[in-house]
Amino acid sequence: QTIYRKDYTPPSYLVDTVELGFDLDPARTVVANRLTMRRNPDSAQREIELYGENLELVALRMNGKTLGESDYRIEGSLLTIPNAPEEATLEIETVCAPELNTTLNGLYTSNGSFYTQCEAEGFRAITYFPDRPDVMAKYTVMLRADKEKYPVLLSNGNLIEEGDLGDGRHYAKWEDPFKKPSYLFALVAARLVCQEEKFKLADGREALLQVWVEEGNLDKTDYAMQSLKNSIRWDEERWGLELDLDRFMIVAVGDFNMGAMENKGLNIFNTKFVLANPRVATDVDFQGIEAVVGHEYFHNWTGNRVTCRDWFQLSLKEGLTVFRDQEFSADMVGTESGRAVGRIDQVRTLRQAQFPEDAGPMAHPVRPDSFVEINNFYTVTVYEKGAEVVRMYQTLLGREGFRKGMDLYFERHDEQAVTCDDFRRAMADANGRDLSQFEHWYSQAGTPVVRAETRYDEIAKTYTLTLFQSCPATPGQSSKFPFHIPVAVGLLGADGRDMPLVIDGQERGTTAVLELTAAQQSFVFENVQEQPTPSILRDFSAPVVLDYNYGDADLLHLFSHDSDPVNRWEAGQRLAMGRLLKLTGEVGVGASLLLDDTFLMAMGKMLSDESLDPAFREQCLLLPSETMVAEQIEVVNPLSIHLARQFVRANIGTRLREELLAQYHANQTPGEYSPDALSIGKRALKNLCLAYLTAAQDEEGLRLAQEQFDNAGNMTDRVAAVSALLHARAPNVDQVLQRFYDEFEDEALVVDKWFAMQASSATTDVSGVRALMRHPAFNLRNPNRARSLVSSFCANNPVQFHAPDGSGYAFWAEQVITLDALNPQVASRLARAMDRWRRYTPELQEHMKKALQQVAGQQRLSNDVREVVGKALAN
Ligand code: ARG
Ligand code: ZN
Repeated sequence: QTIYRKDYTPPSYLVDTVELGFDLDPARTVVANRLTMRRNPDSAQREIELYGENLELVALRMNGKTLGESDYRIEGSLLTIPNAPEEATLEIETVCAPELNTTLNGLYTSNGSFYTQCEAEGFRAITYFPDRPDVMAKYTVMLRADKEKYPVLLSNGNLIEEGDLGDGRHYAKWEDPFKKPSYLFALVAARLVCQEEKFKLADGREALLQVWVEEGNLDKTDYAMQSLKNSIRWDEERWGLELDLDRFMIVAVGDFNMGAMENKGLNIFNTKFVLANPRVATDVDFQGIEAVVGHEYFHNWTGNRVTCRDWFQLSLKEGLTVFRDQEFSADMVGTESGRAVGRIDQVRTLRQAQFPEDAGPMAHPVRPDSFVEINNFYTVTVYEKGAEVVRMYQTLLGREGFRKGMDLYFERHDEQAVTCDDFRRAMADANGRDLSQFEHWYSQAGTPVVRAETRYDEIAKTYTLTLFQSCPATPGQSSKFPFHIPVAVGLLGADGRDMPLVIDGQERGTTAVLELTAAQQSFVFENVQEQPTPSILRDFSAPVVLDYNYGDADLLHLFSHDSDPVNRWEAGQRLAMGRLLKLTGEVGVGASLLLDDTFLMAMGKMLSDESLDPAFREQCLLLPSETMVAEQIEVVNPLSIHLARQFVRANIGTRLREELLAQYHANQTPGEYSPDALSIGKRALKNLCLAYLTAAQDEEGLRLAQEQFDNAGNMTDRVAAVSALLHARAPNVDQVLQRFYDEFEDEALVVDKWFAMQASSATTDVSGVRALMRHPAFNLRNPNRARSLVSSFCANNPVQFHAPDGSGYAFWAEQVITLDALNPQVASRLARAMDRWRRYTPELQEHMKKALQQVAGQQRLSNDVREVVGKALAN
């Protein structure tokens, strides 16, 4: 059933202390839980409410007295003790079976060892508890387990005692000095080894840092450790926030639903975001590790010290922490152009994933009003759009003003569970500003459209920019209030330079942040000596669609000269999108295709402009994805889009051949591998050149790809070579794939890449995917492996997934159903591959609807999947 934000009530009881005792056994783990509770003065309720799921309740005592069946009620996952006294000490004994827990929620085993995942509501699968984030308590944890099998016993906070229990078992006792909500609880009992280091904090204290991994992976922990040290330093320097513990641990686990988890002092990570060395990890993997290690570390303040009142406020911590990790990665690169390349990646993610979500059946505000299953709301909207909302405060208030707001936020709310409104109030109060209209960014779903009109008055020397905003209807929200939108604008002269901006007699530099608050608003730039070219929404100053009737000449001018790198890139994307849309229409009617010289020359000039960073040039040369093109079209035929895009890629490969070859050779990175921004940019550009050459079936290109595969000194170049050969259907590609597999079969994360590359290649159809599922290395229970094959096919292989006979959709339904019985969270993510089903051709829609109905009609279905398919069919 649906849970509503408006129904929030404070907890009836508060918990002061929690003592947990674990007797760890894969088949039968006994959990003893001792809670001291007292009535919440802010609640009128008199019953104690505890949640528990899949638990065998062995004993329940209150203030020393055993409670009988008539002293409490259990309804679903809610256990209620009526008429409880003012103060209550509860002792609860339960049993669970970690080895049977395939959901990877709560306490589970992975490769024979114990791990936990409690966010959002996993703690209730470990013991009965008021499992809600506004109940914060101090925890002491006693772990007991077989010494041989589980030599390492970890939990939150500080190790205060450890020892032998005789009988082959040992124990460790941990104490967390900080109050925390139950979702931040964690334990690990495993056979692991660690890389560790003492690290000096700003106040002179020393903290012990550890990265724990399975034996054999110690050669892959350096980068995570370095990223952790950089994160600690950065949080001190940029925000004045220090590590509050003497010990900080990261543990890598191979079976994990998400990226990682910020448990207090004991972050648990998907191996994908810890393990790296040049042999097995790509540049993108290294960047992901830095970002996620930073993200989880930054949660210690934005999430743990100040947490969420309820799960509707999830973006309070996630949007803010994503913004912080984005800024961290940008500062680690250090250059302006490096920052821009990162920003472009963020814009790409929004357009590729968040805009479609915001326009589909699962659309929800950054702070949702309702949900059926909270795990379905760990979304690009809550995370990435949430980060954009936080970024807009900084754009509106300036860096200093934003920092003042952050300081006030911590001053007011340290060790509290608060709301998005509290955050907004801190920003407003610290800066003496009224930010009440800004609230709509939290309450209204949908991507706003900002339409721009411009008029140059040659006599008055004024340039008028009129902005109109609107926002499409979304499920449950048919009309919207105007948003408070920062629109950063610059004006380019014919010479390509920024004009000085004057508004209302005020000098505004060369980029003015206009504040659009009404449905329609005009801004007059004064003293404008010639007709300018407007650069609107610089640095992507708001998560909106900008609708302005740019002509090719304007775009070419911006693409050559805009001082704002994001809008310079954007001009190229607009040029490309125009061509892709036109060609997609022409493919559909069998017209003969043509790509104009103007476009190719602009791309060629960009490619060879060695005054620009390779990373930036690569971004500019990369075409909008098939998904992004599809989002621009009313009736989507994925094959037409694919053919149009392939046509452009092949044309670039043929007609820019000499330049591509030259840049391929000019951007080699010989010598020792390094994941620094310059080298990463060179490899990206060089490998894009290779991709274009091979897309054109260029013989020299194919030879270079083979040569690169044979001689690659790092995984980035190796994967790029395999994927170029695969997409070009090179004759020996099977051999290449086999060699790749043979060399890396012992590296799980590389085998994931091997599956993913094939699953997302248009050369692999449904029967090809089914064949890969029979490969001995395939395992549906491991989320990384399931995603690498099944999700990659359904989400990243549009041509084959949308095969006209509906076979891709039938495969999807089958896999969602099978996965749902094992792991609802993974199944539910896969289910979202059908979100946009109403936008395809009528024939495809028919097949998609049938597949959705087939899943929806299942007797046994998790809340997770039921919510997703239900909303898809309803909206
Ligand atoms: N808080 C974690 C992060 O942002 C995500 C955990 C979500 N897990 C889940 N099962 N919903 O890094
Ligand atoms: Zn997070």
